[in-house]
Amino acid sequence: MNVLLVYAHPNPESFNVALARTIQDEVVSNGGQIKVKDLYTMKFAPVMSMADFQGIYSGNPPADVKQEQADVEWADLVIMLAPVWWYSVPAMIKGYIDRVFTAGFAYKATSTGLMGLLKGKKGLFITTSGANRQDAEMGGMLPVLKKSLVGVFAFSGFEEKKHFNFFSVPTASDEERRQMLLEVRDFVKSMV
Ligand SMILES: Cc1cc2nc3c(=O)[nH]c(=O)nc-3n(C[C@H](O)[C@H](O)[C@H](O)COP(=O)(O)O)c2cc1C
Repeated sequence: MNVLLVYAHPNPESFNVALARTIQDEVVSNGGQIKVKDLYTMKFAPVMSMADFQGIYSGNPPADVKQEQADVEWADLVIMLAPVWWYSVPAMIKGYIDRVFTAGFAYKATSTGLMGLLKGKKGLFITTSGANRQDAEMGGMLPVLKKSLVGVFAFSGFEEKKHFNFFSVPTASDEERRQMLLEVRDFVKSMV
């Protein structure tokens, strides 16, 4: 299986980066091919400029977007990974979605409404939060994340789409973090 892992965290010592390494390792252990997009390290340009906008809507996206779209096309499973920042994700990953999952590539307008174009793919969105499960549930964080993040996969016509959140990450003990890394392995294994 071809897996595309897209993640965004500025700190190489963060738990997100540990998760990214574990995911990569698990895909390879299961015989999968993986392409990894560490958006901060690759200095991905997250802002949709006027030139991008014109190019995308005239069917001629900028070269960096075309490359990213080719990698999405290549993937059977797209995994996005990010911390929850303000009930959403860092601007870097939001900008990747804005610029790569474009009209004409991820979806198109038809006479009966919008149609997803990335059929047959699986999508997994993994987030980490400061909030514990109870606060995240009571505060309505999970449905908001699910709607907006998994919604990207759903809107684009993906066949299978999932969201998985790790809670209380900043206050978790080393043992709890180890458990989370085992959990992400199991979860990835179930999808590859
Ligand atoms: C700018 C910013 C905004 C944040 N917003 C939220 C939030 O809305 N909900 C939440 O549960 N945690 C929030 N957090 C906490 C992070 O989600 C948490 O620290 C992170 O998931 C831990 O993983 P890391 O060690 O890989 O950064 C925020 C953190 C930052 C820096």
